[in-house]
Amino acid sequence: MPDTITSPTIASLANDIVACEACTARQECDRPTPFYPRTAPARILVLGRNPGINEDRQGLPFVGRGGQILEAWLQGLGITREDIWLTNTLKCYTAADRKPKAKELSTCWDLHLSREIGLCRPDLIVALGAEAFQTTTGLTQLTNRHGILYDRIAELGAYVMGVIHPGSALRSNLFKDMMIEDAKMLKPLLPITLAGTLKQALPDGYTAQ
Ligand code: URA
Repeated sequence: MPDTITSPTIASLANDIVACEACTARQECDRPTPFYPRTAPARILVLGRNPGINEDRQGLPFVGRGGQILEAWLQGLGITREDIWLTNTLKCYTAADRKPKAKELSTCWDLHLSREIGLCRPDLIVALGAEAFQTTTGLTQLTNRHGILYDRIAELGAYVMGVIHPGSALRSNLFKDMMIEDAKMLKPLLPITLAGTLKQALPDGYTAQ
C-alpha cells in the first residue's frame, strides 16, 4: 500500500476531506475517512456508503469485516485495491451505522466526491449499495437494477454499475448470491477498462442504459 500521497492535488483533496466539518455526520465520527491512499488517477472507482467504526478508528476505507468481503470479491474479479480508487459516498462514520441523511450525502458530493471523480477520472464506477448508486446515477431500487451498466459519460465521464453492498451480503444469503451475480456481469468489463478501451466499445452482449 502506498503510505504517502505524492500528487499535490490528490493530497490536497485528502487533506480537505480530513479537515471537513461541513455537515452533521462530522459530530458522530473521530475524523472523516478519506479515500484509500492513491497517487494517481484510476480507471475504476469503487464507491462504498460510509465508513464503519473500524474505518473511523483507522482512517481508511473498508478495513473492517465489509472490507474483508470486498477484498475476496475483488480477488474473484482478478483485481486488488491497488488497481482501483476506493472511496465512500459519505466520508464520515455515522453513529450505530445509521443511514446517511440525504443532506449529508449531497454536501459530501458537492464538497468532495464530485472533485474526487474529477481527479480519479474513472471510466467505470462500481457503486456498492443504494446510496452510492443513487448518488452516481440518480436512480433508486438497486435490488432491481444491480449488475446493469448505466451510461453516465455525459455527467461523470464514466459508466456506472450498481452492485450489492458487501455489508448486505454479510447479512443475507440472497444478497450474497446477488453479489456473486454482479461479479459475473462486472468481470468481463475489467480487463478492457484497465486497458483504457471500455469507452471505445462494450464487449459483445453488453449495452448501457
Ligand atoms: N462500508 C462502506 O460502505 N464503506 C466502508 O468504508 C466500510 C464499510
